[in-house]
Amino acid sequence: MLSKLLFIETLGCAMNSRDSEHMIAELHEKEGFVTTEDYKEADLILINTCSVRERPVHKLFSELGGFNKHKKKGAKIGVCGCTASHLGEEIIKKAPYVNFVLGARNVSKISEVLHKDKAVEIDINYDESEFAFKDFRSSPFKGFINISIGCDKSCTFCIVPKTRGDEISIPDSLIIKEAQRLVGAGAKEIFLLGQNVNNYGRRFSGDHEKVNFAELLRRLSKIDTLERIRFTSPHPFHMDDEFIEEFSSNPKVCKSMHMPLQSGSTKVLKDMKRGYSKEWFLNRVGKLKTMCPEATISTDIIVGFPGESDEDFEETIDVMKQVQFDQIFSFKYSPRPQTEAEHFTNVVDDEVASDRLAFLQSLNNEIVDTNHEKLLGNTYRVYFETLHRDGHVAGRSDNNIVIKVNGSEELLGQFRNVKITTIGRTILTGEVIA
Ligand code: 5AD
Ligand code: SF4
Repeated sequence: MLSKLLFIETLGCAMNSRDSEHMIAELHEKEGFVTTEDYKEADLILINTCSVRERPVHKLFSELGGFNKHKKKGAKIGVCGCTASHLGEEIIKKAPYVNFVLGARNVSKISEVLHKDKAVEIDINYDESEFAFKDFRSSPFKGFINISIGCDKSCTFCIVPKTRGDEISIPDSLIIKEAQRLVGAGAKEIFLLGQNVNNYGRRFSGDHEKVNFAELLRRLSKIDTLERIRFTSPHPFHMDDEFIEEFSSNPKVCKSMHMPLQSGSTKVLKDMKRGYSKEWFLNRVGKLKTMCPEATISTDIIVGFPGESDEDFEETIDVMKQVQFDQIFSFKYSPRPQTEAEHFTNVVDDEVASDRLAFLQSLNNEIVDTNHEKLLGNTYRVYFETLHRDGHVAGRSDNNIVIKVNGSEELLGQFRNVKITTIGRTILTGEVIA
C-alpha cells in the first residue's frame, strides 16, 4: 500500500518542535503517514503555530490561503499549536476549508481529530503529562524530552499560559525511560524542555515523590552512555543556590545557561510580573560566573514594554554591559490578546521602540565580537550534529559555541577536540586535532 503523505510546518519554540515530532510519530504509527517536503503532494497539511508575537498570526491566514489553493484534491488541512489554542473556532470561521484545529495542549489527539471534520480540540486543562508518545526524532544525535507542560506564571506580556494551560511536571520515571530509550538508540545528548524547567516538580498530576530539577538532573546523569544534558528554559526567579550548584558541578550538564532577563529595570520587571529584580538577576549571574566561569549565558529581552522610559531602557543596557551575554534574542513588545499588558495604556512610541531595539542589537554585536576574539586558538570538545552541503560539519561545544570544520558524515554523532582557527559572529571555524 502507498503511504499517505504528511507535510508539516513548525513555527515557534523547541516545545513546538517536540510537539511536531509527537504528531509525526502518532500519524505514522496509527495512520501510516510519512513526511514530505512538498505540500502540493501531501494528503495532510499541518501547520504547528506560535502566538508569542503578533506577526506570525497574520502570516498564518495568508499561508493557509496558499495551502488551500495549491493543495492536492481531497487533502486535509489542520492548524495546531499555540495559535490554534487561542483562536480556536475563529480559524475555521475565517478559513472554512480548514478541517480541524488542535491546541498546543492536545497534540496527543492528532489521530482522533483527523477523522472528525471541523473538530476543534483546544482544552488547556487536558492532561498530557503521563501520555506515552511514540518515538519520532528529527535528529538521531540528540533527543528532545518534555519534562513539564504548561506554565504557571502570569507574566503580563505573555500569552503562553492561555495557550498551554497550567504547569504540570511529567513523572521522572517517564523522563528517565525516554532518555534511556534515546541513548539506547544512539543519542549522546538530551535536551530537556519546559516553560520553566527549574520549577520542575512543583505539581504532578498524580501522587509523586518530591523531585526538583536539580534532583532530576542528578538522576538523569546516572545513565551511563548519556554524555550531555541541555535544557531550556530556566526562569531567573527559580535560580536558587541548589540549581546553580548542580548546574556547575554536574559534568554531564552542558555549561550554557539561558537566563531570560526581559528587562533590566526593576520597575518594568514589576509591571511584567516577572517576580525578580535587577539586583536578583545580577546576583544570580554573579553566583553562576563565580561557580562556573566557563558557562556561556544567553537571554531574551523585550524593548518598548508599556511604560518603559529612557531610564528604564538604560537599566537594561547596564545589565547587558555587566553580564556581557554571549547571545541575545531581542524583541519589540507586541501586545497579545488575553494578557494583562494588552490593556496597559502607557504605550511606547513604535519608533522609540525600534531605535531601542537597534541600539541593543548593535551593542550585543560588539559584545559578541569581543567575546569571540578571545576564543581564537582555544580548543573545545565538539559534538558534531549537522552536515552542510558545502563540505562542512557543524557541532557544539559543551558551552554551546557552534563550530564548523571541514569534514564528512563520519564525524556526525562523534566527539572531537577542535581548535578554533577563524572567528565569525554566529559561527566559528576550526580544525579537528584529536
Ligand atoms: N512581545 C514581545 N516578545 C514577547 N515574548 C513573549 N511574549 C512577548 C510579547 N508579547 C518573548 C519573551 C520570551 C520569548 C520566548 O518571547 O522574551 O522570553
Ligand atoms: Fe512556544 Fe510560546 Fe510560541 Fe507557544 S507561544 S509555540 S509556547 S514560543
